[in-house]
Order: sequence, then structure tokens, then C-alpha cells
Amino acid sequence: MTDYRRLRVALLGAGAVGSQVADLLRKHGPELADRAGATLELVGIAVRDVDADRDVELPRELLTTDAEPLIVGSDIVIELMGGIEPARSYLLQAINSGADVVTANKALLATHGPEIFDAADQVGASVYYEAAAAGAIPIIRPLRDSLAGDRVQRIMGIVNGTTNYILDRMDSEGADFADVLADAQRLGYAEADPTADVEGFDAAQKAAILASLAFHTTVPLGAVHREGITAIDKAMMDAARHAGYVIKLLAVCERLTGETETGGDAISVRVYPALISRSHPLASVHGANNAVFVQAEAAGNLMFYGAGAGGVQTASAVLGDVVSAARRHIAGGVGVGESTRANLPIVEIGRVTTRYQITLEVDDQPGVLATVAGVLSEGRVSIATVEQTVIGDGEEGSGVARLVIGTHKAREQDLSETVDRLAASGVVERVVSVLRVEGD
Ligand code: NAP
Ligand code: HSE
Repeated sequence: MTDYRRLRVALLGAGAVGSQVADLLRKHGPELADRAGATLELVGIAVRDVDADRDVELPRELLTTDAEPLIVGSDIVIELMGGIEPARSYLLQAINSGADVVTANKALLATHGPEIFDAADQVGASVYYEAAAAGAIPIIRPLRDSLAGDRVQRIMGIVNGTTNYILDRMDSEGADFADVLADAQRLGYAEADPTADVEGFDAAQKAAILASLAFHTTVPLGAVHREGITAIDKAMMDAARHAGYVIKLLAVCERLTGETETGGDAISVRVYPALISRSHPLASVHGANNAVFVQAEAAGNLMFYGAGAGGVQTASAVLGDVVSAARRHIAGGVGVGESTRANLPIVEIGRVTTRYQITLEVDDQPGVLATVAGVLSEGRVSIATVEQTVIGDGEEGSGVARLVIGTHKAREQDLSETVDRLAASGVVERVVSVLRVEGD
């Protein structure tokens, strides 16, 4: 057996992910040592309650409630506690005491990433976070390393498994949002408080992380436009299916070429439910799976697909980072910091252009279609398709009609002002839905 240098590894957290990381580190120790070129010695595991039941059996003597002595003196610190504090302070302490760090903590990186990356830069340490976006799917390394020589134009990601599970079942079974959410909670996909998932907060954190990497720009969480899926109902699902679309919660990170006053590029980062064509690769992402579709100038279209969550699946990404951290620690020298020098301006949602599908209920009277078309034209919204169905129960021409209008690309602000004018036009009974169409 090769006599490798020993690296001390501290693990903070032994929950769904941490317990699996500890288990795999212990089970596959010799194999990981050969890959890392170092023996990875798990010196301790910090938890809140050393007597709590664990998903896997862990040696009692490794568990402690006192994280600080573990952190100081470790070569690699793996943070899998989640939340902001004390995770933030522990990571900073680890970096400042000479460790390389691994974390899966998207909430922390999306809010305090620059502080942590700066601290690592100061001392030449490295921060690894492959598991912080899309769980087991390798997407951080491809964006940070493999595509570093290319120019990413757009990322469209299904990065939240819970919402994809809900929308997929609403689409395939015609189920109601509330019923599927209850099932998702029973199956353990959704938390008792599902707000972070269904309101898009979790996806927005991941979008901020992916956009920062893709566009070499610090993207604060507050710059990510966010909408959740709670307004999506069966009628919208049916209308989407009828028009050849499926509704997915998408994280869209987009380069807007020539958008600034001086003709420079800007970026937009947004999370919302959107229509995508059933022939788009993202339409075939079912259940709680995640996928990230990347469009790069030279590479073209790339798709990364797999498990976006799950203890053992996420542990795979964490352990890949641990091996990388060990290799770097052995090689020595200064770690490679985050590339944020492009510093592209981030535009607000009002300046973004997409296609839309507007569904209206209108009076089924002569001249109504012309009025609707006139309001759209005045608002600089160009119609691509119109479909009308009479839904009222009166005689022909005296009831209510449903209009489904597909637009060409329009600026969000123009579109939303136009929809307000339609609602006030006197011929529109109800604006049923306004959904963006993505994936051209
Ligand atoms: P979890 O099951 O809630 O586990 C958290 C662990 O941290 C527990 O072992 C807990 O100790 C420990 N802990 C919490 N606060 C602590 C404190 N103040 N001091 C010491 N220990 C503390 O969380 P998880 O699902 O494994 O997630 C861990 C991280 O991975 C999070 O950042 C999450 O966003 C990220 N992530 C998770 C998944 C997933 O599928 N679960 C996927 C991707 C990324 P006790 O066990 O004693 O309570
Ligand atoms: N709640 C998240 C999801 C877990 O549903 O995808 C992984 O971040």
C-alpha cells in the first residue's frame, strides 16, 4: 500500500448529505487515497445532537457538538450544516486557519459568496461547491473550468426537484397543485414548509451561483428576478399542453449582447414558470430530476441531467470536491479564485425580451378581436398566433370567448403595460394567464 501523506478532514454536519459523505469516506478510503494522492483521515464530525438517529451508522467517538477544535488544524473542512450561521463563521475560520473548504450550501454562497471567496483569495485557499447547484449533476466544474475558454450565452436550468415533481404530475396526470404538493411532502421531496421550493427561492439561489460562474460576474441574490409556481393551475397546464408546450420552473441566466448604452453586453438572471416546447430537451425532464441546458458560443448546446438532490447522490458531488481539494492541498501553492472580472451589468426584468402566451376571456362580440389587436399594436407587442374558442353558454355571438395569443419577442415592460391596458379595455372579462415562452 502506498504511504501517502495524511490529510485531516473535518466534517460539519451529518444529516441527509453529511452522513452519506462520512460513510463513503470511510468505506472507500483506500480508493479515494489513490485518486487524491493523500490519505483522507476523517478526524471528527460536528453535529447538534450526538445521540440523534443517523441515516447510517457512524462511530460515536467521531461525533462532537464542538466544531471549532475540529476546524482548527484540519487540512480540509466540509460544511454540510446548511443555513447562514454558524456555517459562514466556521467556513471563514477554516479558510483563515489554512484549510481548503468544501460546501453544498447554496443559501450561504448566494448571499455571502463574495465574502467567502475573498477570504480564500487572501490566504490562497480554495472553495469547492459542486453540490451547491443541482446536487449530483456536475455543472459547477463545467462552467468554471471546461467552458472557461468559451463564452456562455444562456443557461436554462430545472434546478429544483420539488417543483419539477409537482409540475410534472400536474402535466401528466391533470392533478391539482395542492394534491401533488401534499404527495411531495409525504414522499419527502418537499419540506413541511415548502416556501423555499414552490416560491422559487431555492432555484434563485442556484441561479445566482450558476450565473456568477457562467458570466464571470458577481450576481447578488437580490438581482435575481423570482416567481414561484403557486399560481399555476390545471387550466394553465391544459392550455399549455393544447398549444404543444409544457410548464417548467426555469432558472434562466442570459447574456444580452450589445444591451448597454455603449454597446457592451449585460446579463439577466431570472426564475419563473415558463412554457417550453415539448420537443425541447428540458421538456423530457420528469419527476424530481434536474437538468441544466447550456448554450455556449463555440460549444453549442450542452445538457447536464440527473439527480438534483438526495443524500447519497449529493454526497457524490461533495466527495469529488474533497478529492480535488486534497490534490490541491498536496500540490500546494495558491488556490485559483473565482473569476468575476467581467463584472457585467445585470438588467432588471422589465428590459428582458421573450415571447409570451396571453390567455384572455373576452366578450364574444363583433369588433372585440380588433380592439384586442389594437391594444397590442399600440403597446409594441406583435402577435404571432391567435386561437379563439367560444366558451360562453349564450347564443353564438352573445357569450364569452377564450383567446390564446402567442406573441413574437416583446420587452417585458411593454408586455406588462399592454396587459394592464387590455384588462382595462372594457372588452376583456378576465386575464386568465400570462406566461413567458422560453427555449428558442
Ligand atoms: P440536514 O439533513 O438538515 O443536516 C444538517 C446537519 O448539520 C445535521 O447533522 C445537524 O446536526 C448539523 N447541524 C446543523 N446546525 C448545526 C450547528 N449549529 N452545529 C453543528 N451541527 C449542526 O441537511 P442536509 O439535507 O444534509 O443539507 C446539508 C447542506 O447540503 C445544505 O446546505 C443543503 O442546502 C445542501 N444540499 C442538500 C441536498 C439534499 O438533497 N439534502 C442537496 C444539495 C445540497 P444534527 O443531525 O445533530 O441535527
Ligand atoms: N429542495 C431542493 C429541491 C433540494 O427540491 O431540489 C436540493 O437543493
